Amino acid sequence: MKPVKVGICGLGTVGSGTFNVLKRNAEEIARRAGRGIEVAQIAQRRPNPQCDTDSTPITADVLAVADNPEIDVVVELIGGYTLARELVLRAIANGKHVVTANKALIAVHGNEIFAKAREQGVIVAFEASVAGGIPVIKALREGLAANRINWVAGIINGTGNFILSEMREKGRTFPDVLAEAQALGYAEADPTFDVEGIDAAHKLTILASIAFGIPLQFDKAYTEGITRLTTADVGYAEALGYRIKHLGVARSTDQGIELRVHPTLIPADRLIANVNGVMNAVMVNGDAVGSTLFYGAGAGQEPTASAVVADLVDVVRAMTSDPENRVPHLAFQPDALSDHPVLSIEACESAYYLRIQAKDHPGVLAQVASILSARGINIESIMQKEAEEHDGLVPMILLTHRVTERHMVEAITALEALDDVVGDVVRIRVEHLN
Ligand code: HSE
Repeated sequence: MKPVKVGICGLGTVGSGTFNVLKRNAEEIARRAGRGIEVAQIAQRRPNPQCDTDSTPITADVLAVADNPEIDVVVELIGGYTLARELVLRAIANGKHVVTANKALIAVHGNEIFAKAREQGVIVAFEASVAGGIPVIKALREGLAANRINWVAGIINGTGNFILSEMREKGRTFPDVLAEAQALGYAEADPTFDVEGIDAAHKLTILASIAFGIPLQFDKAYTEGITRLTTADVGYAEALGYRIKHLGVARSTDQGIELRVHPTLIPADRLIANVNGVMNAVMVNGDAVGSTLFYGAGAGQEPTASAVVADLVDVVRAMTSDPENRVPHLAFQPDALSDHPVLSIEACESAYYLRIQAKDHPGVLAQVASILSARGINIESIMQKEAEEHDGLVPMILLTHRVTERHMVEAITALEALDDVVGDVVRIRVEHLN
């Protein structure tokens, strides 16, 4: 059988990894796919010395790949929302299948792209868009298809996890570790996407839609990054038996879907609390299977290429199968998506870590306890440290039981209004993941 012809758009970190893996493992891949996969065209703006493209035709115009009648599958690895959307829609309109690693594109424009793909009867595959090399989309969409999914929680930004791990383990500074993550090709072109949680929110949006059968709703995701975390809070969390991780949480409740990305205290003995460096991990809790954990490299050249090439193999296999019976993009049939709402962050429920800087007076703790109890907030534990030498203030650290964000915000406002409380109250959400 003739090989399937692929056009790779973008020859950066992931594009060159994809080219190299396709070349190195060509024979193995053809045995799995049932046909060879030939890179018949590459679109690149500048040469990439990490990639020997041999005699593969090169163009600087990505849209030329979408218009090339020779090409069966367009692999979109240019990133961003604008040109990538144009490229993907053009490829679909021209009847080509698409493989993409672009989480921003899928989270923001996925509903439109999938509708066009269904009209044209072509595949859009996007395994590499979430958690790099971990096949978590396939696991959720296929392997866990029997389950009602209760929640998904994951460390889904490698750069952020790398920064937090290096800061905790080696005491390195934030900018120093971020610069290394950029040099290693982990960080987004705009690294604020990593450290402000936007990249993780893109990925969580995709996971939530596949888990719960809801349309993609990135605009409703609550997003908080890691830039305001301090080493003091990391240390106090450790003393209480927790680790701070940047977590994406999607939980199904009777009222709606919680969709939130933020720093989170996790009990230190959970496996996911020990996922360090650029590694990602996603926990999925289903009613039949219980808790599962998927772990692996969430970013980087060949781990991400592994997912891109696996999608290519799926596309090649599906090209010879019944087009009416493909796995749906969001796991559920398009006419069976649910309108269960995504909740505002105020309606989400979580336990909390609070750090209060208080003047060293009798009765402060009683006032704090009274504010919390008046709002039905149950304290799980309290740790009060010695007054700091430089300012005489006493750090008071509390863990609470679960409460809605709305009640916690009210309580924090009341705490910050106390004469004996100085500055902002630090609050970090806590998830026990059980
Ligand atoms: N910037 C992303 C990360 C790359 O660090 O996880 C993989 O999506």
